[in-house]
Amino acid sequence: MKLILLTALCVLVCAKHEEYIGWKSYYVRPVSKADFKIFRAMIERYELDILRHPISGREGIILVKPEHQAGFKQEAAAAGISVKIHRENVKQELDFDDMRIKRHNRECFARNGGRKLPYESYQQIEAINNYTDYIGATYPKVAKVVDAAKSFEGRPIKYIKISTTNFENHRKPVIFIDGGIHAREWIAPPSVTYAIKKLVEDVTQKDLLDRFDWILLPVVNPDGYKFTFTKSRFWRKTRSKGQSTITQICPGVDGNRNYDFRFGTVGSNHYACSDVYCGSQAFSEVETRVVRDILQENLSRVALYVTMHSFASVILYPWAHDGSRSHNIFDLHSVGVEMASAIHKKSLPNFPKYIVGNSALVLNYLASGTSIDYAHSIGINLTYAFELPGISEDLEGFNLSPDYIEQVVRETWAGIVVGARKAGDLFIK
Ligand SMILES: *[C@@H]1O[C@H](CO)[C@@H](O)[C@H](O)[C@H]1NC(C)=O
Ligand SMILES: *[C@@H]1O[C@H](CO)[C@@H](O)[C@H](O)[C@H]1NC(C)=O
Ligand SMILES: *[C@@H]1O[C@H](CO)[C@@H](O)[C@H](O)[C@H]1NC(C)=O
Ligand SMILES: [Zn+2]
Repeated sequence: MKLILLTALCVLVCAKHEEYIGWKSYYVRPVSKADFKIFRAMIERYELDILRHPISGREGIILVKPEHQAGFKQEAAAAGISVKIHRENVKQELDFDDMRIKRHNRECFARNGGRKLPYESYQQIEAINNYTDYIGATYPKVAKVVDAAKSFEGRPIKYIKISTTNFENHRKPVIFIDGGIHAREWIAPPSVTYAIKKLVEDVTQKDLLDRFDWILLPVVNPDGYKFTFTKSRFWRKTRSKGQSTITQICPGVDGNRNYDFRFGTVGSNHYACSDVYCGSQAFSEVETRVVRDILQENLSRVALYVTMHSFASVILYPWAHDGSRSHNIFDLHSVGVEMASAIHKKSLPNFPKYIVGNSALVLNYLASGTSIDYAHSIGINLTYAFELPGISEDLEGFNLSPDYIEQVVRETWAGIVVGARKAGDLFIK
């Protein structure tokens, strides 16, 4: 009986992720500038999917399809770039991850007396939307839910405005945090829902409500996010079709290449099947237009914009498109470092230390049309991309292990608290 049950479970669970049969993941460690140049050329040639960018002193983690593994390894060896296997069997690893997540969700459910909270387990989009609605309905004096638009596939894109003064005190600076533009980066949405909790349900830093209005958008890209639960775990883009005939076969746009600043110039691709496809034009995606409109609506008041990604344990700031210094470099760097040190104080010994810096210089990789560059270009002084940690069983994995979700959202919140206060001090109205 037991055996039959187990087999049945495996049929249910293990039939998933079949598209990743034969895929492997590798550590890759380019060192010199020349190595990085070769590595960047290999990304396109071997369709490497970068899960974690290599940075100076820290290896990257990449996914490689079966047909490209031999060529990739050969070329890396010829160039003297160190490559080590990370996971031999990516599909099996994803099956294990599913089981870990199921077990974790069961435990959370029991611990919380039957109430699942979207911040301590990975949650489907419906549960996150339910949570947002629940907050709006339960705390109408401070929290307002905005149904900003429908995604390409018709899902609501919801954000929450938090204000003790009904957003009517125009002298208050605004803090805006979004997550989930990249579908597969599952730890990003909980880091935003946890901020909602800390500003509405479990307030321990009241000054953050007195001083600021908040806009929190947990899932910018609900279609892609959903798709990573139902179909392809490594989906990154939106799910839009119809920008050109090829998007019928290769749907979706990399939202973080779709913003209107140096659009489509570097570190993005005009070929629709690419994972960094920038789209047919800037703001082709309704999902990025929602973020644009939030930024624009009260532009003069936005003191801090943070966009949540994973995984790398880095805090990145503009300019991502060319690595040049922003006019505000001093504040950008010092607030970034203060956020990182607040996170370190709450972090665990087995977590990598955060690295803070200019996006292009830290990643050795230029990217155009990003939200941090766009927000900065329209006048927001402090804009950051957080690449949250990805630790699994003490080994960096695909998912952040679900046992660490609560740890990551708590330490990340500690960074946001410090970032908001510093941004408030620097903000000149
Ligand atoms: C969301 O809320 C609706 C209505 O309250 C409920 O029927 C549904 O089961 C909830 N879904 C999830 C995933 O929590
Ligand atoms: C932006 O400011 C206008 C007035 O200046 C106000 O009516 C509106 O509610 C504000 N929106 C947000 C998101 O703060
Ligand atoms: C943005 O920073 C610059 C200095 O880098 C400063 O002059 C300006 O007042 C700041 N703007 C706001 C709104 O704080
Ligand atoms: Zn990302």
